[in-house]
Amino acid sequence: MITVLGATGNTGGRVAARLAEAGEQVRAVSRSGRAVPGAEPWQGDAGDRDFLTRAFTGADAAYVLLPFDLFTPDYHTVQDRLGEAVTAALRAARVPYVVALSALGAEVPAGTGYLTALHRQEQRLRTLDADVLFLRPGLFFESFLYSLDAMRAEGVHADTIDPGTRLPMIATRDVGDAAAAALLTRTRTGVRELLGPVDLTVPEALADLGPRVGLPGLGYVRVPEEAMIGALEQVGMPPDVAALHVEMNAAFNSGLVRSSGRTADATTPTTVATWAGGLGVAASSSPFSSP
Ligand SMILES: NC(=O)c1ccc[n+]([C@@H]2O[C@H](COP(=O)([O-])OP(=O)(O)OC[C@H]3O[C@@H](n4cnc5c(N)ncnc54)[C@H](OP(=O)(O)O)[C@@H]3O)[C@@H](O)[C@H]2O)c1
Repeated sequence: MITVLGATGNTGGRVAARLAEAGEQVRAVSRSGRAVPGAEPWQGDAGDRDFLTRAFTGADAAYVLLPFDLFTPDYHTVQDRLGEAVTAALRAARVPYVVALSALGAEVPAGTGYLTALHRQEQRLRTLDADVLFLRPGLFFESFLYSLDAMRAEGVHADTIDPGTRLPMIATRDVGDAAAAALLTRTRTGVRELLGPVDLTVPEALADLGPRVGLPGLGYVRVPEEAMIGALEQVGMPPDVAALHVEMNAAFNSGLVRSSGRTADATTPTTVATWAGGLGVAASSSPFSSP
C-alpha cells in the first residue's frame, strides 16, 4: 500500500492514477477528500500529525509534498509546521521508502523565496531512517495558469523574471510519472533533478502557451520588483508572500537557483505546446481572481 499526499493536486493526482493503474493499493490524502479514481480517499490536514500517522501506517512507501497557500501570511512558518508534521508522521509510521517533491534550488539554504521551505524540508526528511528520493523539478508550466486571468485582462504576462533568463520548466504530469516510477520500483534514492524537455525563457514559454489559451501573440513585460509586489498585494497576497515571489525570481535571474546540468535522466518529454494543447481555450482560471 502506498500513501499519496496531495492526491487531488497536480503531481499527486498523476502519482495516484499511475499507481492505481499498476494495481497498487493507494491512500489518497487531501484536505478536501475529493474522490481519486482507484484510490481510497483520506481526508485530513497535512498539519495534523496524528491524522498523517494513521494515513502512513502500514504503507510500504509514500509520496509527500508541502501543500502551499499563497493567500495565508507567514508563509515559512506555515510551511515549517506542515513539514514537521509530515516528517514526524513518516517517522512514527516507519515508512521505509519515501519520494519527496522538492524543487531546483533546494540545496540553497536562503535567499530563494518560496524554495527555502523546500530546503528546510529536505533537511528534515534526511533525518528519517528511511530510503528517500528527492525530486527537484524546475518551474511548473502550470504556474503560468495563476496569471491567466491577468493575462486575459491585460493582454500580456507581467513578472520579474528577466526576459533573457533561461529556466528548466516542466509539466507536472512528468513529475508525477517520475514519482510513480520510483514508487513502483523503490530502488532509487538521493536527488533527481527534473528539467522538462528544454530550458526556456518566459517569452518562449508564452509564445507556445498563448495561442493555446486564446491569446495569440501573448507578450511579456518585465516589471520592477516593487510594482510586482504591489500588484500581488492588490489581488490579496500577503506582503511576506509577495516578497518571497520576487525573491525567488531574483534567485532565478542571478543563477542562484539553477540545475546542475542537463542530462538524459533529468530531461522529461512533455513540451509547453503539448501540455497547453490539452488545456483548451477555457483553461482553468487564476486563483488570484478569487483570493
Ligand atoms: N509551482 C512550481 O513551479 C513548483 C516547482 C517546483 C516545486 N513546487 C512544489 O510543488 C508543491 C505543490 O505540488 P502540486 O502542484 O502537485 O500541488 P497542488 O496541485 O497545489 O495540490 C495540492 C494538493 O495538496 C492538498 N492540500 C492542500 N492543502 C492541504 C492541507 N492543508 N492538508 C492536506 N492536503 C492539502 C490539495 O488537496 P485539496 O485541495 O483537494 O484539499 C491537493 O491535493 C509545492 O511544495 C511547491 O513548492 C512547485
